[in-house]
Amino acid sequence: MATINLKICMGTMCYVMGGADLKSVAEALPYDIKKHLSVTYSPCLGCCNEQPTPPYVELNGKIIAGVSKNNLIQILKEELANVI
Ligand code: FES
Repeated sequence: MATINLKICMGTMCYVMGGADLKSVAEALPYDIKKHLSVTYSPCLGCCNEQPTPPYVELNGKIIAGVSKNNLIQILKEELANVI
């Protein structure tokens, strides 16, 4: 059973600002992270008009802004440390 639910925004704004890269990173994660992860995608997380810092992901119900392909793995490792 997954302990981390990661939802990546694939809405237009997030997609062009790096969401496409996040999808690639999520698909290529190391097994030690991937085995705890459930990845889904959203057409819009509803944040894009509130803050100018896409792309957004939802991690176990928390919205995180400005996620990049460089910091996604670190964010997931920190979440894993908190929930395991
Ligand atoms: S397009 Fe990503 S939050 Fe709306």
